[in-house]
Amino acid sequence: MNQFHKESSQQALGTDEVLSGLLTSEKSLPAKLFYDKRGSELFDEICRLDEYYQTRTELWILKHYLPEIISAVGSGVQLVEYGSGSSLKTRILLQALGDLVSYLPIDISGEYLNEVVQRLREQFPFLNILPVSADYTKPFLLPNLVPGSGIRRVFFFPGSTLGNLDEPEAIGLLKRTRRLAGPDGGLLIGIDLKKDRTILEAAYNDSRGVTAAFNKNILHRLNTEMGANFSLSEFRHHAYYNEPCGRIEMHLVSLRPQTVTIAGSDVFFREGEMIHTENSYKYTPEEFEELAARADFLSKKSWVDPEQRFAVYYLS
Ligand code: TRP
Repeated sequence: MNQFHKESSQQALGTDEVLSGLLTSEKSLPAKLFYDKRGSELFDEICRLDEYYQTRTELWILKHYLPEIISAVGSGVQLVEYGSGSSLKTRILLQALGDLVSYLPIDISGEYLNEVVQRLREQFPFLNILPVSADYTKPFLLPNLVPGSGIRRVFFFPGSTLGNLDEPEAIGLLKRTRRLAGPDGGLLIGIDLKKDRTILEAAYNDSRGVTAAFNKNILHRLNTEMGANFSLSEFRHHAYYNEPCGRIEMHLVSLRPQTVTIAGSDVFFREGEMIHTENSYKYTPEEFEELAARADFLSKKSWVDPEQRFAVYYLS
């Protein structure tokens, strides 16, 4: 057990953060609240939906261009993954990167992370796996690389999760990554590309309602972990493409006027009032390369599917 591995199985919810988001005219909740164990499982289900093209497209790119990707990443690597979840995509890399030094999955859901790591250790008994239970959108520590060891640190950030951050946050995270990667490290990152809004909107409004359940899981968490009394049937999932901002927006809409009590505070909702729960920014290749350049990252190579829906970049 190392000092970076926190024993707590779940990040405590910040009452102040939650209330300050709800006691304003433009209500919002922090998106990281999605990922408790149940949320992580629902998210895995989203990834298997027909409408959610992102996961299978990124997997296709990783498998189809694997030899090129492996050669871009190079050898003697410590692989660090942001928001590792089920580590599904990483398994492809772990199998192909023969001389990997270690794998550091970072995830906010400590409970889920421990389960996944247990399975990974069975599948990769010789791999040194060092799980880090942390919120990677905030500054965090990594074990130092031994100077002169020749080990290179490469980050893996799949799933277009960078798109869930707004521009200053995205640049902040890229800059911190750039610093942690050092002069000869890199970043392998998946980015969802701008495309027709019907395809985008379908991906966040699946017919089976899994995305809706995922979105509402936030309210369930506030009920069980913060003593709130949200009635889940009085809110509706709403996701749409805000084209001027280049992002999918996820909201929860109040179906009637209602008052909800959260940690002792009353929050009033008008009928139709929305809680903004998540953004998912989409980029053109030019926009993304410019963003990366602002964090001092250079796009060494990129791979795109034939329909140009999704791109994987190796930045250094
Ligand atoms: N980063 C992915 C995306 O924006 C995954 C994701 C995050 C997501 N939050 C979500 C997918 C909410 C569906 C619903 O697409």
